[in-house]
Amino acid sequence: MAQAPTDYELYLRVPELLSLQKPTAERACPDELMFQVVHQTAELWMKLLDHEMQEFTSSLDGKELQLHIAQTALHRVHHIQRLLLSGLEMLYTLSPTDYMRIRAVLGRGSGQESPGFRRMLALGSEVWPHFERLLERNNVQLIELYHDPRHHPALFAIAEGLLEFDLRLQEWRNRHILLVYRTIGIGTPSLKGKHSELLEKGLRTQFFPALWAVRDEVFAKWTAGHPQGAEYSLTGASPLGRPGEAAAAASPPSADAASPPMPRGPRPPRKRSRP
Ligand code: HEM
Repeated sequence: MAQAPTDYELYLRVPELLSLQKPTAERACPDELMFQVVHQTAELWMKLLDHEMQEFTSSLDGKELQLHIAQTALHRVHHIQRLLLSGLEMLYTLSPTDYMRIRAVLGRGSGQESPGFRRMLALGSEVWPHFERLLERNNVQLIELYHDPRHHPALFAIAEGLLEFDLRLQEWRNRHILLVYRTIGIGTPSLKGKHSELLEKGLRTQFFPALWAVRDEVFAKWTAGHPQGAEYSLTGASPLGRPGEAAAAASPPSADAASPPMPRGPRPPRKRSRP
């Protein structure tokens, strides 16, 4: 007689969950189970990520910033992003031929249709206005925040948390494109056309362009005050002299092939796009 399900199984709906993967006899190859599990768990993680982002945005909206809620939600979001990233590595073990077998039974399905990923792409533009209003209520400009982070530690922590969301999404896209290259090559067209072009466009997308641009602004100010890159050379091999010989820094540098030029600071900002 079949055993009655336990409370654990009932609460977590384990039987339903485990019936969502193809049974052995229906798999295109043994690795199809791994392929399904990685994608299904990714959808679950992205569902939670979306929920945490909603918690995060509402914590910004009150009269008082609810810092603990905001930070906890953002930490979870980053943690989920790390899990999504390492989930991709599981697919590094899939052979190109097994992927072809799975591809043949995927219908016209494409990762681009992932509802969780689409939500993530939408989150950037949804979250940003809440953060902007928070800055306005506190009478702080973004550039001020970055010139003097210690003056507004809570706001700065939020800004850096948002940047981390953006950065980790770009990390995911970078690793995913390597996974695609390793599995189907660089030139193979996919159902959507030339995948390398399509995915590389994604790599250039920034979700919070202002948080990247503000770094250029901070360093533009620094570069203007440090046209030589530094006040002195640590080795003394440059005409700028050693530490303590700052006076020498005032004289213009000579063309000296032995001393490489100091870094000149950031280049002009690249063209940025919104999702
Ligand atoms: C062997 C592994 C994989 C291959 C060969 C592959 C292939 C591709 C290709 C060719 C595209 C471009 C769109 C298209 O032509 O359909 C794409 C997009 C995408 N895939 Fe994958 N994929 C793999 C694994 C994964 C995994 C594990 C996930 C999620 C957990 C995933 C999620 C996505 C998403 C979200 C997109 C849209 C990306 C964007 O817009 O930047 N893929 N994939």
